[in-house]
Amino acid sequence: MTDTLNIAVLGGDGIGPEVTAEALRALKTAGERFNFKVESESALVGASAVRAGKQPLPDETLKLCLASDAILFGAVGDPAFGDLPPDQLPERALLHLRKGLDLFANLRPVRPVPALLGASSIKAEMLTGVDILIVRELVSGLYFGTPRGYGADEKGRFGFNTMRYHETEIVRVAKVAFDAARKRKKKLCSADKANALEVMQLWRETVTKLGKDSYPDIALNHMYVDNCAMQLVQYPRQFDVLLAENMFGDILSDIGAQITGSLGMLPSASIGGRVGLYEPVHGSAPDIAGKGIANPLAAILSAGMLLTYSAGKLDAAKAIEDAVDAVLADGYRTKDIASQGGANVKVVSTKEMGDAVVAKIRGK
Ligand code: IPM
Ligand code: MG
Repeated sequence: MTDTLNIAVLGGDGIGPEVTAEALRALKTAGERFNFKVESESALVGASAVRAGKQPLPDETLKLCLASDAILFGAVGDPAFGDLPPDQLPERALLHLRKGLDLFANLRPVRPVPALLGASSIKAEMLTGVDILIVRELVSGLYFGTPRGYGADEKGRFGFNTMRYHETEIVRVAKVAFDAARKRKKKLCSADKANALEVMQLWRETVTKLGKDSYPDIALNHMYVDNCAMQLVQYPRQFDVLLAENMFGDILSDIGAQITGSLGMLPSASIGGRVGLYEPVHGSAPDIAGKGIANPLAAILSAGMLLTYSAGKLDAAKAIEDAVDAVLADGYRTKDIASQGGANVKVVSTKEMGDAVVAKIRGK
């Protein structure tokens, strides 16, 4: 039986379009091998939309996303627009999209590839066996809380944001984390700042209660987020699933990226609403954009996550993951990870890396 996946492709800015093109090729190739069709349509987002005289998230882009089965997203951000007011920044497009699609859970797996252990600044012996799933709340907290804005008083101008969580918002993302833990090593660590913030006391209470009531089989522990950041680099093997609110999860997942050795290796899935969004954790990297040297593997692995979470095509997802492991084992490296692998290393372009992955997915 052939079925069809309708994918909205939002390459965005900088290296976004280059890496997303390779992810789409990987997806289509997986479709050919596993007998499903991938239809895709592209739309503008971020600075590239602003350059075309549109909003960072044009209405037609949101419409396309809402009508699709899943979104392959590249990256947004452009230094040329860095001085715009916050609500016009290209990055806002991504935040609007997350909110507009109610993608409340962001999954960021941190699994160092054996062939790249030396690429991390953390000692290789601390990294073997590390397999962490970061579950980041994505549509609330400081990023979206109101009131927010600017003001002025007798001390001068000020800016402010609000970290606000409803119990229901904590419960729904914590469930995603507990459920994920159930399919893994049955361990969940929740990062918070309950020693300083009321909202984080509520977070801790709510997660504890949910664990007691519904997940007695999951070993739950809590860590203050500052300590958690330290433990992540000190002894990363202790973690299985790691749950955090939006801003804390943003920061912890960049530490996760360093554990894998390159930001170019970390995929992500944003789920919860009807249409999931899949994007590499890295940004638009304007300094290397257009040179054909960006690492497409995080984007390709994100396409793999799309197959798992939005299509339930686990075999095809596994074929993509295995293909990435295989090309790395064969010595293919983009420049960012080229220092690892010794004499075996073949430094390749973005497209050549995509070619190598596609060949492996085909089974060649
Ligand atoms: C991320 C990014 C975004 C975020 C930026 C681009 C707004 O850092 O996805 O981790 O903070 O969520
Ligand atoms: Mg980030």
